[in-house]
Amino acid sequence: MRRKPWLKGKIALITGAASGIGECTAKLFAEHGAKIVIADVQDQLGHTVCDAIGSSNSKYVHCDITNEEDIKNVVDTTVATYGKLDIMFCNAGIVDPNKARIMDVEKADFQRVLNVNVLGVFLSMKHAARVMVPARAGSIISTASLASSIGGAASHAYCSSKHAVAGLTKNLALELGQFGIRVNCLSPYAMVTPLASSFFRLDDEALENLMSSRANLKGVTLKTDDVANTALFLASDEARYISGQNLHIDGGLGVVNPSFGLFKYPNN
Ligand SMILES: NC(=O)c1ccc[n+]([C@@H]2O[C@H](COP(=O)([O-])OP(=O)(O)OC[C@H]3O[C@@H](n4cnc5c(N)ncnc54)[C@H](O)[C@@H]3O)[C@@H](O)[C@H]2O)c1
Repeated sequence: MRRKPWLKGKIALITGAASGIGECTAKLFAEHGAKIVIADVQDQLGHTVCDAIGSSNSKYVHCDITNEEDIKNVVDTTVATYGKLDIMFCNAGIVDPNKARIMDVEKADFQRVLNVNVLGVFLSMKHAARVMVPARAGSIISTASLASSIGGAASHAYCSSKHAVAGLTKNLALELGQFGIRVNCLSPYAMVTPLASSFFRLDDEALENLMSSRANLKGVTLKTDDVANTALFLASDEARYISGQNLHIDGGLGVVNPSFGLFKYPNN
């Protein structure tokens, strides 16, 4: 592996970078030499992240990913400001309150989640492709979720939306492979961010304790840095032959079924 900086000279656009995973990734990418465009609807927080990174290396652009004009504008602004777009991180997403019974799920809540998590990712991918195809280079990464591959980990809307992100990733990896553009997504288990805290209605410590108790991999707690580090790898040339993947950051939780109890150590 090459040493730091992994993204020297690269230009990255990150949606949902005013907070949580996106904010952490923006800071890490900048540390690794990238120039960052932060796209979000939380203007004050977005500017704060830019200030932390430094205005010579970053720019905040207000962008609602469900609005095609906004997405088009932020992609065009990136190219106008920095000359190109190397990395598109389609990360912005929302949750709806979980309801135990489908009969209680409001159509409006379902549509709101699909609108941001699917349509928003689709538009982000579409406009990234618009400028990456002529350049014949680029890396598109989206934030899916463990709920992209298993049921029972989130609400119906969220689960459907993240399955859709995994599907879009596969389709686009095929379409854009001919231009040398890689397309992947990340599927983390749960970690403390404003999104997760609002969904579970728990403080940070209680949320981490709950998640650790359900985790497969013990002795380590998933943090936004873990997702940012994985995004850094996928964005970099170190991952130059990796495309079409849904990379799980879940300590194996998505591929094991502990209910058989086959491997319980007597004194553990
Ligand atoms: N936190 C977790 O446990 C977890 C686990 C798996 C996947 N994810 C996914 O990670 C991604 C980031 O979430 P997070 O946990 O960092 O939450 P977060 O709430 O901290 O960050 C999400 C960001 O997206 C922005 N956003 C929301 N709607 C937007 C829109 N229409 N246009 C532009 N920006 C918008 C928000 O303003 C916010 O800054 C999401 O896609 C989420 O589904 C989170």
